[in-house]
Amino acid sequence: MESSPSATQTPPRHPLWDWPTRLFHWSLPILLPLAWWTAEEGQMERHQWIGYTVLVLVVFRIGWGLIGSRHSRFADFVRGPRTAYRYLRGRFPAGAGHNPLGGWSVMVLLLLLLTQAVSGLFNSDRILFDGPFYHAVDGATRDSLGVVHEWAFNGLLAMIALHLLAVAWHQWRLGEKLLQAMLWGRAEGRDGQAPAVGLWRAVVLVASLCALLWWLLQQAPPAPRMW
Ligand code: HEM
Ligand code: HEM
Repeated sequence: MESSPSATQTPPRHPLWDWPTRLFHWSLPILLPLAWWTAEEGQMERHQWIGYTVLVLVVFRIGWGLIGSRHSRFADFVRGPRTAYRYLRGRFPAGAGHNPLGGWSVMVLLLLLLTQAVSGLFNSDRILFDGPFYHAVDGATRDSLGVVHEWAFNGLLAMIALHLLAVAWHQWRLGEKLLQAMLWGRAEGRDGQAPAVGLWRAVVLVASLCALLWWLLQQAPPAPRMW
């Protein structure tokens, strides 16, 4: 007897990580080393543009946490500390997306990236380059934000090291296909549970953020005249 079409139909597969989340993610291991290298080399014009790109991307990811696809939303992976603790003790099953502990590390990474990019706007190399808002604040605030810019990077380095160790543990110790999912959107055993939202949302969000940043930069006060 032939089986009915509905019995043979496989349920539709949905991506775990949509295109915007993956593009956001993989731009980071490219942009952060470039940001570091341009600062080391004193190429501040380039450093500034890389920094603006990271700023737009991070604010985009925060927005995407509200209007993005199911597993990119904060509501899908930000859980209370008690749940994270239960997960650590093996008493909370990991769902499809970020696990409760991973969710917290994502939030810390986003916060550090935001702090890094925003503090840069108030920084200066004290020779040839001033960030756009360096002259908008007093000396003490500038100095503090300079220190914040330096320390946020150290924090990022520590968190990235932890991130890579955690990914390696889940990938190779626990046999979960994290890398494949972040590369291709989904992987065996790592499917999403809902269809991805329209790409136009991401395009509108990024375009609006670029426009907002451009407008903000127009508001930057000019450097005071020395003579
Ligand atoms: C500058 C370096 C990096 C930063 C700042 C970073 C940051 C992040 C962030 C914020 C997420 C959450 C993604 C989201 O929900 O938007 C994430 C996830 C992920 N990252 Fe990275 N990442 C970096 C490098 C890497 C590298 C080099 C790899 C691979 C070797 C990697 C593998 C992954 C994987 C597999 C996930 C998904 C984890 C999961 O399934 O829960 N990351 N990363
Ligand atoms: C997330 C993006 C960024 C990263 C990862 C980053 C990283 C760095 C690093 C590693 C340094 C050298 C450490 C230090 O001296 O503080 C630095 C310095 C600096 N950054 Fe950034 N930065 C970012 C964004 C920005 C932005 C948006 C601006 C301004 C538009 C900026 C302006 C500066 C300035 C003026 C310095 C001082 C250079 C010096 O002291 O010689 N940065 N940044």
